[in-house]
Amino acid sequence: MQSHGILDRTMRVLGIETSCDETAVSVVDNGNSMKSNIIASSMKLHAVYGGVVPEIAARSHIETIIPTIEESLRQAKTDWEQIDAIAVTYGAGLGGSLLIGVLTARTLAIVQDKPLYACNHVMGHVYANFINSTSLSGYSLPSSDPEFPLLAVIVSGGHSQLAFFTDHFNYRLLGRTQDDAIGEAFDKVAKILGLPYPGGPSISQAAMLGDDKSYNLPKAKVGKYDFSFSGLKTAVLRLAQEQIGESYDFPSYRLPERLNEAQKANIAASFQRVAIETIVDKVLLAVEEFSPKCVLLAGGVAANHQLRQLLAESVSCPTLVPDSKLCTDNGAMIAALGGWQIRCGLKSADPYRLDINPNLSM
Ligand code: KG4
Ligand code: ZN
Repeated sequence: MQSHGILDRTMRVLGIETSCDETAVSVVDNGNSMKSNIIASSMKLHAVYGGVVPEIAARSHIETIIPTIEESLRQAKTDWEQIDAIAVTYGAGLGGSLLIGVLTARTLAIVQDKPLYACNHVMGHVYANFINSTSLSGYSLPSSDPEFPLLAVIVSGGHSQLAFFTDHFNYRLLGRTQDDAIGEAFDKVAKILGLPYPGGPSISQAAMLGDDKSYNLPKAKVGKYDFSFSGLKTAVLRLAQEQIGESYDFPSYRLPERLNEAQKANIAASFQRVAIETIVDKVLLAVEEFSPKCVLLAGGVAANHQLRQLLAESVSCPTLVPDSKLCTDNGAMIAALGGWQIRCGLKSADPYRLDINPNLSM
């Protein structure tokens, strides 16, 4: 689809994102100008369990969705009169969590008489890269829209995939993970090492004190643009058991108390290097084959500094990354995606019928 049909007046979109443990609401004008970005996370409630507990996440969304919407409108210094449309994540994600966002958005669309746009969460991560201006402080944003054709590298807790976009909403999925997503591997390796949830930031921090060449961990051999991270996670488990001189029967939950800090840091650094190199190797192949004008990093793992750095050093075309606050789940990426759906003339959803799709893929 061509990006024609661009409207000549400002389209102000309220975006709602509740696919996992973040209740996030944002106001974005024209798919690129961020007016507010409020994120209420229930992450602390899940940390004691070492991962997101779906029922706790859903209950937390119920409690926080309305105050978060109100706070977002307040921060944007706007009101319902000035909102032109509502965008909401309808998949992929946790069923109970998605339901709260979608039912709230449907109700508001009917009551406030606004068009409703259904957004794919993964596509939303890509559109975080289109936010290039804001009245909010503390964001480091690009100054223009990414140019097509572009390669999107989507690396999150639920997804690892490469997509080649020739225009808005016109893309070819080149490859995806065959098992665990890269963020999931960070989270699982953190658990093996006894590092706090979410694993991405805690692995990165531990890795700073380690030597990333201390251990040789394997890179999976899968299809040209596909990924696999479950073997790497198992290799970390075996390595940790070997390091403390125990057999492969040794229970993983007892590893953290037996590993010393240097072993933890070295394993974290070696794992992070291999996980990141795996992504960058495939990106280099795709850049050579498809010659994109730029590479976009998207998703929670895009917040990883080592990944950002290695990609920027290795790839011949410009690499774009969202501000790290826009890499992990947020409402701004959904409001931006909704804004581009409007700009490109995509159809709005039926507010009486929009259903969730927990397994939605790109
Ligand atoms: O995009 P996101 O917020 O949620 C999903 O759509 O999955 O991504 C969350 C994932 C988690 O697995 C988390 O460990 C990872 O992103 N993550 C990171 C970093 N920050 C968050 N992974 C590596 N390095 C980071 N700095
Ligand atoms: Zn996400």
